[in-house]
Amino acid sequence: MLMITGASGQLGRLVTTRLQELAVPFVAGTHDPTQVGGHTRHLDFDRPETLQFPGIRTLLLISAGYGEDDVVTARHDRVITAAERDGVEQVVYTSLTGAGDHLSFSLAHRWTERRLQRSRLAWTILRNGLYAELLGSLTLAEDGVVHAPLSEGKLAAVARADLADVAAEVLLRPAEHAGKVYELVGPQAIGGAAVAEARGAEYRPVSLAETRARLDQAGLLPFQPPMLMSIYSSISGGFLAGTGSELARLLGRSPRPVLAHLG
Ligand SMILES: NC(=O)c1ccc[n+]([C@@H]2O[C@H](COP(=O)([O-])OP(=O)(O)OC[C@H]3O[C@@H](n4cnc5c(N)ncnc54)[C@H](OP(=O)(O)O)[C@@H]3O)[C@@H](O)[C@H]2O)c1
Repeated sequence: MLMITGASGQLGRLVTTRLQELAVPFVAGTHDPTQVGGHTRHLDFDRPETLQFPGIRTLLLISAGYGEDDVVTARHDRVITAAERDGVEQVVYTSLTGAGDHLSFSLAHRWTERRLQRSRLAWTILRNGLYAELLGSLTLAEDGVVHAPLSEGKLAAVARADLADVAAEVLLRPAEHAGKVYELVGPQAIGGAAVAEARGAEYRPVSLAETRARLDQAGLLPFQPPMLMSIYSSISGGFLAGTGSELARLLGRSPRPVLAHLG
């Protein structure tokens, strides 16, 4: 049997929808079972007693990446330890593109990749690029202007649904993907000017200092401003512009157009 963690999240919902379309049976694990229909199991990475995987051969571990590094790595460690204990054969993990090593949240992903690679489990690592929808949320237009600290930097963003489709494809025949690390970035890099044009707006780059001052007033959790600043810096510095063809190869078609998925 196949199990999906994080099934009520936005990526998890898209994966379960795709698996239903493909008529693949699965168990949906979520820490909020009221949010997901179908064959659902309570699965909370913060409650070890819920991490039960007898009868599960393949586990899609969707990262639960909102938190300090020690929280996230402890969550993922508990899941992998329980999977080893209960005889799971393969874990497919949603990680972060290799180009994202300058992002503040990359450490927990690389830690989890290493933990899996040192485990007795078979594994597949989906190194997901940053979502088109995330780029959209960072570049909202206000009064016809997109203010963002991206300078002329660009992002090889990916529609979340494409990443879900790749995950479902891997889960269809997991053994064929064992021991593989897939770099899932888009075929085209998009910058502030293109986003603004798609919104019928004008792009006005702002400084990182102005952005940090705005985020400091936004009532965010302590770890969030550095996380967002690292995304802006990495795009602006040109670290996330590298494109790739592995996404299209695994999809068996062209990726969805990013500008249509900004949200
Ligand atoms: N590539 C990118 O651009 C990007 C952007 C943002 C985030 N991410 C990462 O990708 C993951 C999926 O993205 P998304 O868009 O689906 O995020 P999302 O809609 O915000 O969903 C959050 C995810 O975290 C899971 N989660 C939270 N607390 C949990 C807990 N205690 N135990 C188990 N799972 C828990 C949720 O699962 P349930 O509520 O169903 O249990 C859900 O799958 C995120 O969690 C984050 O690690 C990637």
